[in-house]
Amino acid sequence: MKVLVVGSGGREHALCRALKQSPRCSALFCAPGNAGIASLATVVPVAAEAVDDLTAWAKANTVDLVVIGPEAPLVLGLADRLQEAGIKVFGPSAAAAALEGSKGFMKDVLRDAGVPTAWYQRFTDSHAARAFVTEKGAPIVIKTDGLAAGKGVILCQNTEEALQAVTDIMDRRIFGDAGSEVIIEQFLEGEELSFFAISDGETAIPLAAAQDHKAVGDGDTGPNTGGMGAYCPAPAFTDALRDELMQKAILPTVAHMKKLGRPYRGVLFCGIMLTADGPKVLEYNVRFGDPECQVLMERLDSDILEVLLAAAEGRLADIRLHWKDQAALVVVMAARGYPGTYARNTEIRGLDAASRCEGVFVCHAGTREENGRILATGGRVLGITALGRTVTEAQKRAYTAVDTLDWPDGFCRRDIGWRAVAREKT
Ligand code: AMP
Ligand code: GLY
Repeated sequence: MKVLVVGSGGREHALCRALKQSPRCSALFCAPGNAGIASLATVVPVAAEAVDDLTAWAKANTVDLVVIGPEAPLVLGLADRLQEAGIKVFGPSAAAAALEGSKGFMKDVLRDAGVPTAWYQRFTDSHAARAFVTEKGAPIVIKTDGLAAGKGVILCQNTEEALQAVTDIMDRRIFGDAGSEVIIEQFLEGEELSFFAISDGETAIPLAAAQDHKAVGDGDTGPNTGGMGAYCPAPAFTDALRDELMQKAILPTVAHMKKLGRPYRGVLFCGIMLTADGPKVLEYNVRFGDPECQVLMERLDSDILEVLLAAAEGRLADIRLHWKDQAALVVVMAARGYPGTYARNTEIRGLDAASRCEGVFVCHAGTREENGRILATGGRVLGITALGRTVTEAQKRAYTAVDTLDWPDGFCRRDIGWRAVAREKT
């Protein structure tokens, strides 16, 4: 089969690596890809959001399956266009991708499907929103309805902060037009985890759960990022919790989306808060997490092409997944300054030596090649991924590889996996 992966991050590098291992994958393409992906797949210089060009390219090159990595092309309707062109696709339609594209829609689905979640209300009028904040008090959470590049969530510890957040969002001072509607919701406390399931529109099967580290600094301090590292399995994720999440969250959501005429085909990334009242869904994303995908793909011991194809063809009920009996951990290396401003095109050396470290795979997230040199082009640049018997061993292996790299302009957190490592010690 000819497979095209859409995207250019660490997530897509991990997907390409896993797909390439499938005996059914006869040709692998990635648009637009990065320097690491180019060693596995033929990179196609078309942007992930160029829906028309991607559809035309896939058609002209008789691609059999397109796997869409990021949310933006999904929300723009790439899956719909490919399907209209008769091409199989892993990733939801635009109507189903609204689960991530509109937080208000997502919350309504959770409510109507009876899924445990924070209480909430949607507002397009700033006076009404402010009155609601005053009535409920703090702590409280203010969210923009639309996509805001992974931001768009403000956790407010006091009422003044919350009122200010409402004003800033609704006056479009932050997040632009994504702020035409705000969602005000209950502040939930607890341990967070990311649970992944795959659906074919009718049924769904669980993948695994991972925990990520969103804050930029050690000890979970500093501003939030797209994710500075992740590990899998998450110790808090028991078989009983997996079954509970399937019964109370994933399956009711899939059934409700079908009822709405928006059948969900693709991966459901379910952000969970383990609260004192039981697990609650914080949000859905309509794609794999980045860097969570890197650890899921390292641990998966089944043919990912078979799984994604079964989801695209509505055959998931027949699929059983197998996992390696090992832990995986990824340390993200970012350009100094990220998530603020950072330098581009700095050279990274020592990548081959890092890749030779035991159990290690180096995912590229924001790189390009120029005359044999690898240059950093993004904020998050590399994902140093390692397998080990335990999270502790995977962590040790990942940092050994990090330390062989010669990239003075990059940095990483030194404590990825701390929660699991502390549990393994006891
Ligand atoms: P999101 O962009 O929806 O993933 O939210 C970003 C982060 O904000 C989540 O990973 C949580 O850590 C936090 N968050 C979102 N909603 C809530 C909530 N209702 N209560 C507490 N924390 C939240
Ligand atoms: N790592 C979080 C995300 O992909 O949204």
